[in-house]
Amino acid sequence: MPSPVWHPYAHLKTQAAAPRVVGGRGTRFTLDTGESLLDATCSWWCMIHGYGHPRLVDAIKQQADTLCHVMLGGLTHDPADQLARELVRLTPDGLEHVFFSDSGSVGMEVAMKMAVQYHHLRGHSGKRRMLSLMKAYHGDTAGCMAVCDPEEGMHSLFAGYLPEHHFAPAPKAPYGATAQQVEADLAALRSVLEQHHHEIAALLMEPLLQAAGGLNMTSPHYLRGARALCDEFDVLLVFDEVATGFGRTGKMFAADHADITPDIMVLSKGLTGGYLGHAATLATTRVHNTFIGDSQLHAFMHGPTFMGNPLACRVALESLRVFEEEDYLGKISHLNAILTRELAGDDSLRQHPAVADVRVLGATGVIEVYDASSLAHAADIARSRGVWLRSFGRWLYTMPAYITSDEEMRQIIDAMKAPFLDAA
Ligand SMILES: Cc1ncc(COP(=O)(O)O)c(C=O)c1O
Repeated sequence: MPSPVWHPYAHLKTQAAAPRVVGGRGTRFTLDTGESLLDATCSWWCMIHGYGHPRLVDAIKQQADTLCHVMLGGLTHDPADQLARELVRLTPDGLEHVFFSDSGSVGMEVAMKMAVQYHHLRGHSGKRRMLSLMKAYHGDTAGCMAVCDPEEGMHSLFAGYLPEHHFAPAPKAPYGATAQQVEADLAALRSVLEQHHHEIAALLMEPLLQAAGGLNMTSPHYLRGARALCDEFDVLLVFDEVATGFGRTGKMFAADHADITPDIMVLSKGLTGGYLGHAATLATTRVHNTFIGDSQLHAFMHGPTFMGNPLACRVALESLRVFEEEDYLGKISHLNAILTRELAGDDSLRQHPAVADVRVLGATGVIEVYDASSLAHAADIARSRGVWLRSFGRWLYTMPAYITSDEEMRQIIDAMKAPFLDAA
């Protein structure tokens, strides 16, 4: 009998049988067939330490012996308290309050609700809509679907069910653009704000790297410009660092490239090193203190059952320790050098007629093609070379674990290039 497991994003008629994973160590996982695969995307970008990291596994075991779970409603515990303090220490100055939840999508829901209530409590109850960017992806819950790219995103079928928000064009200037080169992108953002700021509570963005909506990269100048526009129009700036956080763009957080502080920042994925689902929505004191008041409406009415789960907080603390003690930012910069030289720097790949662009940021490398059909066999070709790689749409990308060795990074890059070499 086929498995009753319903797989995500799968076309039920054409989906291939899912390989069965029986274990994982380091950068690789093993299938029940004995096949060992090098994971080029570290399980949707969250397993930043790879699989079976002894320190992370021990942290979970030790915590499990003490306290697996307790509600955060009216109670607290050391792992939640310590993790919140660590996140305040590591994130940009000014983010001083931490609201935990269980996934990136819920972390974003919390951010949006917080933004609307913040304005309501300040007497601006007309500010109930979000401003998001084309090519955005913020998650699959209803609130998040409504702020994903409404045309090319995967949720267009739900138009009519979802609330309507405002969208600005996705930024076009690349990472290395000058301040002058981002002016057109910022002018487009300004134009939406000028027209609709009276009803906009927050500008949401995946800073520097719009991930699942097409791996679009932009410049730190764009982030600085967005910060200034939000201040001018009394709109909160929300950074969704679910994918970019914890080193993916080459600094601890994408916000660090621009030296700015958003009003609200959402973290998940790498937060626990991928070992348990969890998220944190951080807010500045200005946002937080707006919720201090006498009316019943001042309470923030949100409380996922598993928020602040001790196992998740404890493994997140260990993940951060390993990250700092083992100089992960140094490892990421090393991976970046290999990707820059051997992927982005490969002229024959860039000049291949099927290839529209090759770009790299931090530990992220992307090949964008003109037509998705050019990537039809990319995953199979990679697998035949021992690499687990999945393309989506017109993008073939790697976001490897930060412990990936030089040799493994080359194996991944070769697997990414293979569809173009084989076809040449
Ligand atoms: C930028 C961004 N935000 C939010 C999410 C949603 O996170 P989750 O899948 O944990 O709900 C994702 C997931 O890929 C993401 O990339």
